[in-house]
Amino acid sequence: MSDFPLSAGGARRPLSGPRRALAAGALGVLGVVTALATTLPANAAASTLGAAAAQSGRYFGTAIAAGHMNDSTYVATWDREFNSVTAENEMKWGPIEPSRNSFNWGSADQIVNHAVSKGMKVRGHTLVWHAQLPSWINSSMSASDLRSAMTNHITQVMNHYKGKVFAWDVVNEAFADGGAVGTLRDSIFTQKLGNGFIEEAFRAARAADPNVKLCYNDYNIDNATAAKTQGVYNMVKDFKARGVPIDCVGLQSHFGNPPSNYQQNIAQFAALGVDVQITELDVGGSGSTQADAYRRVVQACTAVPRCAGITVWGITDKWSWRSGDTPLLFDGNFNKKQAYTSVLDALNAATPSTSPSPSASPSRSPSASPSASPSASPSASPTRSPLPGGCSATIKTINSWGGGFQSEVTVQAGSSAVNGWTVKWTWPSGQSISSLWNGRQSTSGSSVTVTNETYNGSIAAGASTTFGFTANGNAATPTATCTSP
Ligand code: G3I
Repeated sequence: MSDFPLSAGGARRPLSGPRRALAAGALGVLGVVTALATTLPANAAASTLGAAAAQSGRYFGTAIAAGHMNDSTYVATWDREFNSVTAENEMKWGPIEPSRNSFNWGSADQIVNHAVSKGMKVRGHTLVWHAQLPSWINSSMSASDLRSAMTNHITQVMNHYKGKVFAWDVVNEAFADGGAVGTLRDSIFTQKLGNGFIEEAFRAARAADPNVKLCYNDYNIDNATAAKTQGVYNMVKDFKARGVPIDCVGLQSHFGNPPSNYQQNIAQFAALGVDVQITELDVGGSGSTQADAYRRVVQACTAVPRCAGITVWGITDKWSWRSGDTPLLFDGNFNKKQAYTSVLDALNAATPSTSPSPSASPSRSPSASPSASPSASPSASPTRSPLPGGCSATIKTINSWGGGFQSEVTVQAGSSAVNGWTVKWTWPSGQSISSLWNGRQSTSGSSVTVTNETYNGSIAAGASTTFGFTANGNAATPTATCTSP
């Protein structure tokens, strides 16, 4: 890995004003965006966390320990409330590969098979971490031996869970808590392989599975301007600039209160062209203080389209790794706490998520509903009526900050289905795209041309799909043209 260039990412401003809630995931969009906001009824509130999150295209998951799966209330609560899972310990290197190249899948499979049978998503946690390593990984190994062990571990574990896990924490907690921006934690990986071990791990992961999201996951990277956060931000920016595969950043979010710039932090990572996942949320406290903190976390995530989902680090306070802080949504008797209600209410009021496929997997469908469009924004470009058989395109500003902005472009088919589309516009004042997803761009001066990916070129008559981008400069919504062959 090259040096991580320092950036001004932490200095970005918070998102612009509140957005209107629109539970679009279940809605078919047949009209133009501007018409939607005034004609569609609000969805009825969902009564479980997973169902509420799904309304905006997100998931709401929990960490599960296989050792508790003989408790029927634990499993019933998991099944009822959550639509995603992370194995709390069972997929870590020590438990899953206790002897070299000899894998103990049993406990992790127990969790994954249950989740798959219930239609839940599964987050993979974690491939390369300095903790919970097997004893055969030790300082007597040569660098090349450790490298080969790491690559084999990543490959074997990812192959085993291919098609079942949607996102992997490829590297966990590699950054140090102190020191200069970009300082990595001292570990056997930095000692033997140097700072480049992170990049090596991500490249090996992409080679193992092109269709899964690859995440960097860490704690204490919740504050937008903290040195540790800036180190991770710079690494992600560097990876994106050099084409090192990375699709998501996991904010563990073990805290007592979200930092005041938490939403800004999520937005600044998202603006780099990665998803953000809140991966291990637990909030110490009780009563209304805790409920309010949880509400602010959910609101921060759901205000950013690329915040794809939230996982809490356990179900019940009694089995939390920090049970003395009573940090979860259910008490020791599996009763819903005040925090549960505030999370449910905040999820029910959420704006849709847009989470594109992994960058190296153009053949996989995006997880976001192609018809999910946020409510109309005053900054949307004019929509041209599609010709019969043609298409139209509308550019809308999603976020903006000093010197940059994020937009979503809705491509809508006319009265006939389209098979392939090209959207063009001209920037009015020197804007430039820094990252674009769900489309292929070619730029010539101020003229931008975006064509469909292989997976989103076909749009049924009257239906729509979206692509998105982040750009430098002042937010602009030029009129776009859309043509189809
Ligand atoms: O399973 C053994 C058991 O057989 C043995 O008798 C017992 C004796 O102490 O240990 C048990 O293993 C424990 C394991 O949890 C399962 O309960 C380990 O000692 C204990 O260290 C381990 O703690 C886990 C911790 O990661 C390890 O660092 C916590 O459950 C788990 O919640 C925690 O999760 C981490 C994330 O993976 C990464 N981010 C931070 C987060 C919280 O620390």
